[in-house]
Parts: sequence; structure tokens; C-alpha cells
Amino acid sequence: MPTKLDKWADWLVSRRFGNDKNLALQTKARLEIIRDRLLRNASISEGNKILDVGTGDGLIGIEALKYIGDTGKVFFSDISQDVLEICKAKIPSAYLGKFECCQQSADNLNIFSENEFDVVTARAVVMYVSHKQEAFYEFYRVLRPGGRISIFEPINKFSAINSPDYLDLDFSSLKHELSLKILGPLGYPLDTINNPMLNFDERDLFRFAEEAGFKDIKIENCLIKTSKIMLQPWEVFLESSANPLAPPMKDILNTLSLEEKCLATNFLFSAWKRPLRSGYHSETYLTAVK
Ligand SMILES: C[S@@+](CC[C@H](N)C(=O)[O-])C[C@H]1O[C@@H](n2cnc3c(N)ncnc32)[C@H](O)[C@@H]1O
Repeated sequence: MPTKLDKWADWLVSRRFGNDKNLALQTKARLEIIRDRLLRNASISEGNKILDVGTGDGLIGIEALKYIGDTGKVFFSDISQDVLEICKAKIPSAYLGKFECCQQSADNLNIFSENEFDVVTARAVVMYVSHKQEAFYEFYRVLRPGGRISIFEPINKFSAINSPDYLDLDFSSLKHELSLKILGPLGYPLDTINNPMLNFDERDLFRFAEEAGFKDIKIENCLIKTSKIMLQPWEVFLESSANPLAPPMKDILNTLSLEEKCLATNFLFSAWKRPLRSGYHSETYLTAVK
């Protein structure tokens, strides 16, 4: 394993939890619920050949190994070789011979043939792909007729539109230049037209699937507004980041002069202590048949 992991692997292994055991446990519990629903939607049976796209550290693929019996196989694919090595190390040795790991981008699955898989799964991957339609063409191509996709995606466009300010904060009390230094690396102002993580919703996912040729397309979408956000410890707030492409706040603060760092830290600390603010979330499960 390389000593310095790439941004995907670093986030999956530690940055998403801010090195905090409690946050890691909470996240694991939440993700297991999503994993189980996504796999139920996939209707996997013994002997199935599964492709888990953007497999990460194997949340979906490792669990899928339990469903495929003696003759099935799971292909773990991801754009990041570091991620694949972390995933491989987590797969129980009992499954040796029943899986393969392949470095592939979701929108170009060129090592796989047409009609190769019974099921394609992906959780929180399409959002990172710029050419989403191409990815759906590829999912369709590699599935056998009658094969299924089962996908889960957060719809960040919904949160971006309803809650466009970082932590619901008004940065106007800070100098404009300083607010840019804090918000720029986090992707603010949010761009719901050009940012691949923000520029699509569940209807776009439906359209991509339909255009690729899928039938029996089903979208289950959930919109949530919470008024109370659970606070993580301040250290965790500094060490963690919301997605693999965002740096932790600690790294942003370390780019500032001492004076700017004090101002920014005080400003963020007062926001972090505020327990009541709105949070908007949208989550989508998509299933379809070739
Ligand atoms: C948020 S993680 C999700 C990982 C895993 N699916 C899970 O459910 O935990 C996103 C994953 O997508 C991978 N990824 C990003 N862009 C990709 C692309 N174009 N093709 C394939 N995988 C990609 C990243 O390396 C990372 O492992």
C-alpha cells in the first residue's frame, strides 16, 4: 500500500470520519441501511456475475459476495488503484477465487465485454462522473439482456438549491478576500450547472437510464429537511470533509496568515456551536432492466 493515498482512498479510509471512531460507527450504520436496500433492489441470486462500479472500500461488493453462491463472481471496479488495494485487503479469504478487482472508469468499462454481467451496482459514484450518460451506456452494454442495475445516489442539487450557503452562514462579516479563501476550496459558490456533483437530479438519472435503453426503470426518491444538525466534536469538524474532492477545514485554515486564521477560526467556531440550522437532503434509488 502506498504511504500517501490518493484523494479517494484517503477520504474513504479516514478523512470522511475526521479520524473519529464515533463518526465512523455512525456512518457505517447509516451506509449499511443503504447497502442492504440497494442489494435487495438488485435481486441477486446464486450464480450471478456482479459488477460493482466505483466500489470504494467494498461496501456493496463485499456484501454481494454473500448472495452469489459457489458459482457467482463479483468484479470490484474503481478508478483508483489505491482504493482497490484497500478493498482487496478487506475481502475475507473465504472468497478467494470468487472476485476480481479492476481499475476502470464508470464511463469507459472497456475491459468488459457486452452482455457479461447479471447485475451492475453503484453507490455514490455517478455523482463523480462528468459524462453520466456515457456511464449509463456502459452499464447497459456490459449487462446481459434481462440484467439489472441497482444504483443509489445522493441528489446534492436539492441541498445546493435550498441551502446554498456553507453551514447556512453569512460570510459578509468577514473580508471578501478571506471568505473566498475559505469557501473557494470547498466549491462555493455552488455551481449547479457545471459541477458534476451538483448538476443532476433524479429525473436526469431516469433520463440517462431511458436513453441508454433500459426498461422497467424505477426511481425511489426521498426528500428530507432537518432542522437540527448533529454536532460532531470541533476537532472532527476540522479534520473531516464532506466528500473526497473537498479538503478538510484544517488544511484550508493552514493556508491562511496567522491573523486570517484567528478571524476565520473564531467565525467558524461560532457557527459550529449553533445546533439549529436547516439541512436539506435528497437520496435516490434507481433500478432498471436491460
Ligand atoms: C463516495 S465513494 C463510494 C464508494 C462505494 N461505492 C461505497 O458505496 O462506499 C466514490 C467512489 O467512486 C470512485 N470513483 C470516482 N470517480 C470514478 C469514475 N469515474 N469511475 C469509477 N469510479 C469512480 C472513487 O474512487 C470512490 O471509490
